[in-house]
Amino acid sequence: MLRIVPSFGRIGDENAFAVLARAGALAAQGRDIVNLGIGQPDFPTPPHIVEAGLKALRDGHHGYTPAVGIPPLREAVARDIHHRHGVEVSPDSVMIVPGGKVTMFMAILMFGEPGAEILYPDPGFPIYRSMIEFTGATPVPVPIREANGFAFSAEETLSLITERTRLLIVNSPANPTGGVTPKAEIGALVKGLAAHPDLAILSDEIYGTMTYDGQAHLSLLAYPEIRDRLIYLDGASKTYAMTGWRLGWSVWPKPLYDAARKLAVNSFSCVNAAAQWAGIAALDGPQDCVAAMLAEFDRRRRLVVDGLNRLPNVSCTTPTGAFYAFPNVSRTGWKAKPLATALLDEAGVAVIGGPDFGVFGEGYLRLSYANSAENIARALERMERFLTERSPG
Ligand SMILES: Cc1ncc(COP(=O)(O)O)c(C=O)c1O
Repeated sequence: MLRIVPSFGRIGDENAFAVLARAGALAAQGRDIVNLGIGQPDFPTPPHIVEAGLKALRDGHHGYTPAVGIPPLREAVARDIHHRHGVEVSPDSVMIVPGGKVTMFMAILMFGEPGAEILYPDPGFPIYRSMIEFTGATPVPVPIREANGFAFSAEETLSLITERTRLLIVNSPANPTGGVTPKAEIGALVKGLAAHPDLAILSDEIYGTMTYDGQAHLSLLAYPEIRDRLIYLDGASKTYAMTGWRLGWSVWPKPLYDAARKLAVNSFSCVNAAAQWAGIAALDGPQDCVAAMLAEFDRRRRLVVDGLNRLPNVSCTTPTGAFYAFPNVSRTGWKAKPLATALLDEAGVAVIGGPDFGVFGEGYLRLSYANSAENIARALERMERFLTERSPG
């Protein structure tokens, strides 16, 4: 009998991938499925970025690169951060990783151990909790409440810190809610963190370019007082429609950088060289492709929110970031997960049940509007029919 170590009994999963597989299997059987489950842009990677990747392969960039990434990409990341957030970071603190997920994997490995507590948003990206459990640390959910516009509450977050808390994970704009934490709340959070100088912070800003209605994204990098303990997570996946390239980047405080480099050397060695050259084209090239994608997401956001608010017993707070809507379905008479399953099996609409993002996700569904306006309209029609016919009581 093979004896895998017990920590693997605690590692979790990302149900969006399971829903994607199930939706694909149903489609393969000839079912007509509208997939609002998976969180990736439905646009192709802009052509000048693809071309840069192809050119890199033709130019012979076929070998290993430095584990932390090629210098011109690290410099491009530093320039992008300066341009977007007005903050100087040294390219020597930038690390290139195979997707944003890898930064959270590394950060949680660095701070998670039995006896330690790690604060993470709930509902939130499921890998936070999964990785915290894997390390043996205690996951402490920070409730992300609809009543608070799905923003972090500085007061509530700070109230959960104990002498055992080692890491606080912040995510804005957020998955799965689309919530953006306003400047005043971030300011209050940072102010309160002054009383906890040994607490590290992981700021997941993978949706940082995606805000709407004039809502500004404020990077935690903008606060010099926490820079010596802030890990910044970003990448190309969402902004440049590059989820399959596996390209992300992080900024590390000096004492952690070498630990991150060693984790890279011990696992993936370096990011695919051609993807790194494509990343330079993404960051240094024209940004009108990003603006065009964002304008289209904004149009769909309105369609999806208006449509959801017209469904029987459903209400949806207007999200101001990312590309997700998180409607409240608690008055439909359904629990969220059985509702998501029934919508896929019976109505042919793939969505994710809120509890897949944590216990505070009960009563909600996550819909990704990274899909065409036509498909969104079809999904809403099917949901309306389903909820009208199948509402218990
Ligand atoms: C909040 C959040 N962080 C990180 C990631 C990971 O992104 P990547 O595909 O670059 O690993 C995702 C992807 O869905 C996400 O939603």
